Amino acid sequence: MLSKKQMSAQWLQKNAQLFRCPHCEQAFHIQEEKTLVCKNGHSFDLAKQGYVNLLTHPVQSMYDQKLFEARKQVLDAMLYADVYDVILQQLTNLPEVMTVLDTGCGEGTHLYKLKEQCEHEMIATGIDLSKEGIVAAAKNYTDILWVVGDLAKSPYASKKFDVILNILSPANYEEFKRLLQPNGKVIKVVPQSGYLKELRKQFYATSEKEDYSNSQTVERFKESFPHVDIFRVTTTKKISTELVPLLAHMTPMGWHQEKKIEDLQLDEITIDVDILVGSL
Ligand SMILES: C[S@@+](CC[C@H](N)C(=O)[O-])C[C@H]1O[C@@H](n2cnc3c(N)ncnc32)[C@H](O)[C@@H]1O
Ligand SMILES: [Zn+2]
Repeated sequence: MLSKKQMSAQWLQKNAQLFRCPHCEQAFHIQEEKTLVCKNGHSFDLAKQGYVNLLTHPVQSMYDQKLFEARKQVLDAMLYADVYDVILQQLTNLPEVMTVLDTGCGEGTHLYKLKEQCEHEMIATGIDLSKEGIVAAAKNYTDILWVVGDLAKSPYASKKFDVILNILSPANYEEFKRLLQPNGKVIKVVPQSGYLKELRKQFYATSEKEDYSNSQTVERFKESFPHVDIFRVTTTKKISTELVPLLAHMTPMGWHQEKKIEDLQLDEITIDVDILVGSL
């Protein structure tokens, strides 16, 4: 049986053209089934878990392993199923075999589930600044190349991606435009006003922090892409009590100030997002 590292090396043999060296922008080749090397000699070893760290400098991540574990369990409960349906619908007129990059992929569950459910074949890679997120992704999901890297200095070649996903994560539109195939789509998911509203109500019973608007983010997206469609998904789902503290853990730390996580009482939760679909 192949090790995870060997599986990733084989994946990279086939798909090395999707990448470029983050130091000098030259193409990569694979050496000895374990190292990505450019012609200027910059080299990056595959980790034993099968991911590759393509950061050019150490970065302090804001997220820890616990947060990614909580995120995985929440996402496994398929709270985002309706969001996936809308995204998958957007992929139907793209090539039968499509290249997909998830930017700020975290612990990888969104990309994995989309790949699993997509009728087309996906050649998929996910990038995140957080090594903890990428280690979790590589541990749980194979046949996707997981990369520790910075979107601001991304290790991907130009015009290679049919789909760029950006789910509840910071974006870099200049980079997205460089990476996108001319007929490709950027799909960004941003919270809408009702996102996790039951949780916010409990944390901020009396505060105006309860309100949330995504209008600035949506405006910036519209300025960056000539063609934009927006789909809103609003759905309230029953949740089991075990999920409540996990949900709270995956929210920004600032939310926890006014109430202890153990005191939370919820039996349903609202997912309310806009899905922005941009093309060139
Ligand atoms: C709120 S999390 C969302 C993760 C995942 N998309 C999800 O919905 O579960 C935001 C992610 O963006 C990543 N991130 C932030 N800045 C980044 C950058 N410059 N390059 C790559 N990833 C970044 C963080 O490490 C974090 O994992
Ligand atoms: Zn190089």
